[in-house]
Amino acid sequence: MFAFDHLPVPSLRMLPPGPLALELLARDSTYVSGSYTRVYPLVVERASGAVVEDVDGNRYLDFTAGIAVTNTGHCHPEVVAAIQEQAARLIHMSGTDFYYRPQIDLAERLAKTAPGPRRHDATAGETGPSPKKVFFCNSGAEAIEAALKLSRWHTRRSRVIAFFGGFHGRTYGAMSLSGSKVVHRRGFSPLVSDIHHVPFPKSCTNSCEKTGCAMVKDIVDTLFRRVAPPDEVAAIFIEPIQGEGGYHILPPGCMVALRKLCDEHGILLVVDEIQSGMGRTGKLYAVEHTGVEPDIVCVAKGVASGLPLGAIIAKANVMNWPTGSHASTFGGNPVACAAALVTLDLLEREYMNNATTRGEQLREGLRKLATKHTYLSGVRGLGLMTAVDLQTAAERDRVIQNCFRRGLLLLGCGDSAVRFCPPLCITSEHVEIALRILDDVLTESINPR
Ligand SMILES: Cc1ncc(COP(=O)(O)O)c(C=O)c1O
Repeated sequence: MFAFDHLPVPSLRMLPPGPLALELLARDSTYVSGSYTRVYPLVVERASGAVVEDVDGNRYLDFTAGIAVTNTGHCHPEVVAAIQEQAARLIHMSGTDFYYRPQIDLAERLAKTAPGPRRHDATAGETGPSPKKVFFCNSGAEAIEAALKLSRWHTRRSRVIAFFGGFHGRTYGAMSLSGSKVVHRRGFSPLVSDIHHVPFPKSCTNSCEKTGCAMVKDIVDTLFRRVAPPDEVAAIFIEPIQGEGGYHILPPGCMVALRKLCDEHGILLVVDEIQSGMGRTGKLYAVEHTGVEPDIVCVAKGVASGLPLGAIIAKANVMNWPTGSHASTFGGNPVACAAALVTLDLLEREYMNNATTRGEQLREGLRKLATKHTYLSGVRGLGLMTAVDLQTAAERDRVIQNCFRRGLLLLGCGDSAVRFCPPLCITSEHVEIALRILDDVLTESINPR
């Protein structure tokens, strides 16, 4: 059904970059900003399912999904058809000043599938635990900006709590909330004020229920007592699984404890599902693994299978800002909304389940590799949001570059981790191929210490 993902993969005609790629790379270095973070010289021509082809005809197995975006696979035929049909009907009108069906349909769908215990309402049918409203924008960072503005507006409070290791985007509010790497911030001050960072409980043993949550205790004993009175705190922003920060999973007990803390002090719980959402962890949202209902959920990346779209889904009583207070010319573009509606169908029909199964297969394989290559450690993840640590960032980058040369596309995250965030349509065979290439590369490129 995908155009060419049945072709043998990987299939390299030459060691990349080939001649056509080299030509484009030279023009790129002349004309394109040097701020991007490319680790290897992949110049893409086309893609299908989990297969990417470069301009020289080399075919790669994609375990990046364009940074966790093409969750339904590259150019899924149903997504392509929906985009083509909508583009022929209406490309733009702006939801800021006008109304159109795809945006309303998508808002209803996102509101009704928002995280939290399900409820049945006689008139509305299956709904989330409380009514939701949706604001549309174009990217992850814009979703975070919207959530930050809404939190401050709704609570009339200024302060916000975020986490070290968290990454929320590159615009001023999102950058100020991020606590991942200094390169994201250096030279860009002054940042947005009144944002306080606390440690993310990476090594928590999820014993919050028995012993009380150490992370929350620390916020109460230190932050609330010394610098940020709780009645001035508008929101806590958290990724259920830190993405760029290293694929660290927040223990479910910590999310429950955060919810309780927020309820006690009238603070909004804002969950950044930009990377962890849209089926990647085997559920539509990663926070569903904890049973917690957030006040605001931020989505982007995978929501429209590669078309630029972001959204925040908030409790209806929280999203009570007035006309004109926030808007976006392109946000909720009809073509992107049409792609998102089909994306949700596909995730529900098959890809969320596949993410669970393939994720287990991948982690099982990585654990086996870790017994052979003992410098591999920390296999972790949920569904197809999986990572493993090498010893150093340099080692990790070398492994990723060598995998590229053998036809496997990977990305790094955190201090020295390799992340695996393939399209959710990958097959069992794709997982085996990826593990085999990684095994070969580790054997050749790392000298055991
Ligand atoms: C968790 C998370 N939040 C926000 C963002 C920012 O999204 P965007 O790059 O679309 O602005 C990212 C991007 O990597 C992300 O992973």
